[in-house]
Amino acid sequence: MSRAILRFWRRGFWAALGALTVVGCGREYPQSTIHPVTDFGEISHHLYVKVFWWTMLILAVVAVLLTYVLVRFRERPGQDRPKPVHGHVGLEIAWTVVPAMIVVAIVIPSVQGVFQTYRLQEERDPLVVHVVGKRYWWSFHYPQLGVTTANELHLPVGRPVALRLESGDVIHSFWVPMLGGKRDVNPVVAVPEGEEPKRNWLYFTIKEAGVYWGQCAEFCGEAHSLMGLRVVAQSEEAFQEWVEAWRTPAPTANPPVEGVAAQTGAGAVSAEPAAAGASAAAAASETTAEAAEDPLIARGRQVFFRESYCVLCHAIQGTPAPGVIGPNLTRLGSRMTLAAGMLENNQENLERWIRDPRSVKPGAQMPGAQYPVTYEGQTFPPTNLNDEQIRALAAWLLSMK
Ligand code: CUA
Repeated sequence: MSRAILRFWRRGFWAALGALTVVGCGREYPQSTIHPVTDFGEISHHLYVKVFWWTMLILAVVAVLLTYVLVRFRERPGQDRPKPVHGHVGLEIAWTVVPAMIVVAIVIPSVQGVFQTYRLQEERDPLVVHVVGKRYWWSFHYPQLGVTTANELHLPVGRPVALRLESGDVIHSFWVPMLGGKRDVNPVVAVPEGEEPKRNWLYFTIKEAGVYWGQCAEFCGEAHSLMGLRVVAQSEEAFQEWVEAWRTPAPTANPPVEGVAAQTGAGAVSAEPAAAGASAAAAASETTAEAAEDPLIARGRQVFFRESYCVLCHAIQGTPAPGVIGPNLTRLGSRMTLAAGMLENNQENLERWIRDPRSVKPGAQMPGAQYPVTYEGQTFPPTNLNDEQIRALAAWLLSMK
């Protein structure tokens, strides 16, 4: 090989190594498994590091032996052909026993690690969240707080968390790599009365505030890869603020006072939570105290409650919308993403999602403006919303921050 070619390859090697180093040291990987931020994550990370270094040790031993053999037994001029070895009992025992020992050495700490992650449940007073995976989104219900949200899970830093996992349809898997996991999200199987159905749980305490990306990790259908989620880990105060905001109807959630009677009297929705009236009035006075409401937002509210059947599937806290089939939309405007982590949350994307959800997510269970869906044997017709209605609807939903 000429010297120029050699130089070319040598430069290429160093350039590639440099590039890999730069890329490898970055921290902008939102689904990294090697930057754990929970006790659970640390358990599996320690295991990973331990096994990694053992593997490196094995690699070194093999490389040294191989080099020795290549040098020691290389072909030399005038040398006879070496004698082949057949049926060497000592060798056969060695290459059976050594790998078996390596496997055992990996299995023992792995099994210990699994039990360790379950011991995390002994933490007192965890914040419980009922996680329900559905094709293709996530519902999060906080039974102790009476809060329900979707796709963006808010959790306080430093407080033990217990996630109860179940599926509304097929098997999913809850995986937020930086928090540790993953764990299967299974449909609940019927059990004899009085018995508690079996569900998987996940326990951890987050140590660092941040937004952590997650992903369904069990193939569940055509949009499996589009079933993302975000975990918003925040200080206890910020978390409490978020809970308070969720409980308080957004200023634009309900119509200003003069509209209330008209809506509750003749509205398309008859199921009205007992508290909605009072909170509606409170929110309304807040609205009227401010400048007159944006007509587009008022129009969007009208479309939601009177000109569509959104309320059959969606709920919004403090309004008469009671649906539980689809994601809870309370304070949708404050979310970062739409469609389970797939789209940035803005007017344009929300309009696209409402008009044609399957263009974003094949198999999405929400009807489009032009096509129906069948969900659990029930057919929901096309929403038939026109562009003007969709624009207003999106503007209203986004106004509730
Ligand atoms: Cu849900 Cu894959």
